[in-house]
Amino acid sequence: MKVFAGNSNRLLAEAICNYLNLPLGKATVRRFADQEIFVEIQENVRGEDVFVVQSTSFPTNDHLMELLIMIDAMRRSSARRITAVIPYFGYARQDRKPGPRTPISAKLVANLITEAGADRVLTLDLHAGQIQGFFDIPTDNLYAVPILSRDVKENYDLKNVMVVSPDVGGVVRARALAKRLDCQLAIVDKRRERAGESEVMNVIGDVTGKDCLLIDDIVDSGGTLCNAAEALLKNGATSVTAYITHGVLSGGAVARVTSSKLKELVITDSIQPTTSVQSAHNIRVISTASLIGEAINRTSQEESVSSLFD
Ligand code: R5P
Repeated sequence: MKVFAGNSNRLLAEAICNYLNLPLGKATVRRFADQEIFVEIQENVRGEDVFVVQSTSFPTNDHLMELLIMIDAMRRSSARRITAVIPYFGYARQDRKPGPRTPISAKLVANLITEAGADRVLTLDLHAGQIQGFFDIPTDNLYAVPILSRDVKENYDLKNVMVVSPDVGGVVRARALAKRLDCQLAIVDKRRERAGESEVMNVIGDVTGKDCLLIDDIVDSGGTLCNAAEALLKNGATSVTAYITHGVLSGGAVARVTSSKLKELVITDSIQPTTSVQSAHNIRVISTASLIGEAINRTSQEESVSSLFD
């Protein structure tokens, strides 16, 4: 087996290789003067089981194109099997038509990855599990929940913890964590009663005196998270911490989180943290390297991946 990386998340790729006790494969991914991407695989991959680690995070289109070109280079170099390891799968939120004459971009991206020559996909906390069906190649969707629940157990007195979904759409994800921790579940229900009026945040469940843990797959602008945190504190929560797999954190999101009343935002390294994320006083990053590394190992050995979550 050989593991290669694009430019999106080399730190995670190196940590995965450490876990696997393998050197990171040698490849250069660079730009021509006009910003076209050029890839050169600098070691033999003929007949190898190849894993290409690349999150399609910001700048999303550049990182996606790098991934496609790396897969093409591997295919033309006679790799035996190519697995696209995509810790953060961008475009996942465009998984249905929100209105007439709109695209389903997540499906288009799945088609592009398949057409480029990937044989398998390994990803983490897909925005919607059904996106696996957009690929006609085997796709493993890993869950960060074992890593997150381990961290919660190390840092919280579970007797006083309430797991909270920041919106109705995230209830299944939050319930999975609540079940692992044997904790209660609350939901923030965001609704606009009438057009033109501002949104009302209703908290379903009694959070008075509780340490609330907000669970979500993505923090992007930070709006969903910070609004939900405000609503929980107004409803009597003692503290609010967020556990969110993918720290997209666009625009002013880091500033929004640091100036919020959130005790802490815990994210994973599925997206490489920027320097502002690293220096934020209330953002902490935990690693998915051993989870992804073990899934790669098992894929290569043709062993069960789902048993990682038993
Ligand atoms: C939405 O369905 C997702 O699960 C996240 O709640 C959303 O993407 C977060 O975005 P933002 O941080 O911009 O509110």
